Amino acid sequence: MAGHQSPVALIAPHGGVLVDRLRVEGDEAEALRERAAAAVPVVLSEVARSDLEMIATGVLSPLEGFMTHDEYEAVLSTMHLPNGLPWTLPVTLPVSEETAARLRPGQDVALVDAHGELLGLLELVESYRYDRVREARSAYGTDDGAHPGVARLMRQDEFYLAGPVWMLVTPSSPFPDLYLTPRETRALFQERGWRRIVAFQTRNPIHRAHEYLLKCALEIADGLLLHPLVGETRDEDLPAALRVESYRVLLQHYFPVQRTLLSVFPAAMRYAGPREAIWHAIARKNYGCTHFIVGRDHAGVGGYYGPYDAQRLFDEFDPALIGITPLMFEHAFYCCACGQVTTSKTCPHDSSEWLQLSGTEVRARLRAGEMLPAEFTRPEVSAVLMRGLKNGQ
Ligand code: ADX
Repeated sequence: MAGHQSPVALIAPHGGVLVDRLRVEGDEAEALRERAAAAVPVVLSEVARSDLEMIATGVLSPLEGFMTHDEYEAVLSTMHLPNGLPWTLPVTLPVSEETAARLRPGQDVALVDAHGELLGLLELVESYRYDRVREARSAYGTDDGAHPGVARLMRQDEFYLAGPVWMLVTPSSPFPDLYLTPRETRALFQERGWRRIVAFQTRNPIHRAHEYLLKCALEIADGLLLHPLVGETRDEDLPAALRVESYRVLLQHYFPVQRTLLSVFPAAMRYAGPREAIWHAIARKNYGCTHFIVGRDHAGVGGYYGPYDAQRLFDEFDPALIGITPLMFEHAFYCCACGQVTTSKTCPHDSSEWLQLSGTEVRARLRAGEMLPAEFTRPEVSAVLMRGLKNGQ
């Protein structure tokens, strides 16, 4: 007879409770839909839509809605929510002054997509004008309009609507077979008996240097959640579909299938570097992960952040309040003298031995139909990227 095994205890969500604001079926959903039918509609941007979905499914626990003015101010100035929990980025719903003027606290707002289809309901607590430049400087550390996160912020409408939300449709994903909510990843981790689970956030193809980080981490963990971000990114980033195809072949050929899980992270990229690293980590805790990889220039762009600023920011928090453990990695590269991927922590050789290619160079080679060196990128991954880039993806 099989012995009774108690389920593995999972890491607690941020704030202790996994938020559930998704109501698709049943009387409650019906009642909410009726309220929405009578409410003022607000069209959600792609970013707001993914934020709604993440709030509803608990990815952004403990948030139950778009941030109030108090929450927003606390996050910008202290990197904590008013209740003392670490939280580093605003999660807000921008609307025009005219829309804000039509709404009163206590009213319902119907959240709709660009075609007018109902996505959810917001119970309006308040609307407030905000200062874009102040938000840019606090959240991104710069107000330079060339920064993609700042540029998006500068294009936004000038008021925020705040209050709890309900999502009234089933979240849909361009990658339905890879879509898992935090409840689903948590259930899977329990099923697989994983205790130590390391998450990897990425918006790029996985080259050998990244593979090294993943495998170092996997040596000390039970399982790896490969969790590419597939929400809105800037045009220069590779399209998610191509990246996802490259992750699939990499896992198929080079990772132990029973110890890895590929799933998609629906967030939009903010490019906020250090603050986004903390935010990414907290979201992965909500998915049930215990460890989170933070390498060189996490969520960075251009030269806005120092390569290890994101790692250092973790030191400003009480680790117990963050909950998930960051696994910090130095810049990794292939060293010809070592004959392996390494970092300056473990490689004694001169940098002339290091094989390093810039993103621009990598793209140029792939576009020209040239495979990348096998030391740099697995041939199966090169082939996928080459095909995609040649086809103009
Ligand atoms: S990110 O915007 O999602 O952070 P990217 O996909 O480039 O971008 O990086 C994913 C993770 O790998 C981040 O933690 C980043 O710091 C880390 N990383 C990327 N390249 C390297 C590298 N060569 N060496 C060490 N860490 C790296």
